[in-house]
Amino acid sequence: MASPLPSALRALLHRRFTRIVVFSGAGMSAESGIPTFRSGRNGLWNAFDPQALATPQAWRRDRDTVWGWYEWRRGLVMAASPHAGHGAVARLRNELDAEVVTQNVDNLHERAGADGVMHLHGSLFSPRCDTCGAPFSLTASPPPEPSRQRPPPPCPACPGAIRPGVVWFGESLDPAVVEAATAAIIRCDLLLIVGTSGMVYPAAGLVDLAPPDALIVEINPEPARSTGRIGYAWATTAATGLPALAEHLLAYSR
Ligand code: OAD
Repeated sequence: MASPLPSALRALLHRRFTRIVVFSGAGMSAESGIPTFRSGRNGLWNAFDPQALATPQAWRRDRDTVWGWYEWRRGLVMAASPHAGHGAVARLRNELDAEVVTQNVDNLHERAGADGVMHLHGSLFSPRCDTCGAPFSLTASPPPEPSRQRPPPPCPACPGAIRPGVVWFGESLDPAVVEAATAAIIRCDLLLIVGTSGMVYPAAGLVDLAPPDALIVEINPEPARSTGRIGYAWATTAATGLPALAEHLLAYSR
């Protein structure tokens, strides 16, 4: 059963919202067993060096290590399932026309039933050629261990190699995705910020574009300060908080 909303939050939500945006980060998928980057003992950047794995320089230096690591992460996601929070976001998307903007490179929002998700940092499931940019379909199963090196597949169209479809440190975000996310956020009346530390720009800065009269609710078990304009910071997890919030918003819209 969905947990009840705190009364102060319930009071803030005592109106009908028609332009809802969900902005998610790694904490959104933590309860599906996908490690975050910076929180807890399993934070990826506590265990691995981002400079050695998530930069264009790392790719040029050692493609097999970089490709093997992202393939391991793809395998983690494939073995995971969306949780009740992903299901709640999908309901908001499908029943209230909410927009979903994520920093996550997994596909758990989609597998819960949300379409049109804006992936600011790309996707583990859309690799492309590092030279001609042609998209590539992955068929091989990912390795079970993060340490397993793997040569990337050769591009079928040119002498390039297939690279992960994610945005690395030092690279630009896809302008079309940023434009779509910006368009959604600047007109929202309710912004739900879920499971992000708000530390990686420019993605983190997008939430500051919400209109001054929009209600901003943060869902994060730790204080995250993802923006200075939080209307209510709910210290709860995505799988607990989002179903309760969605239930309330859906009931209110009927
Ligand atoms: P972080 O790892 O920086 O932050 C995860 C946040 O999720 C923290 O604030 C946690 O407190 C919170 N959290 C943990 N468990 C949660 C739960 N069950 N429910 C809700 N919140 C929870 O992840 P991001 O902010 O997403 O970039 O990181 C931003 C970017 O940094 C990532 O997209 C990635 C990384 O480098 C790229 O890959 C380009």
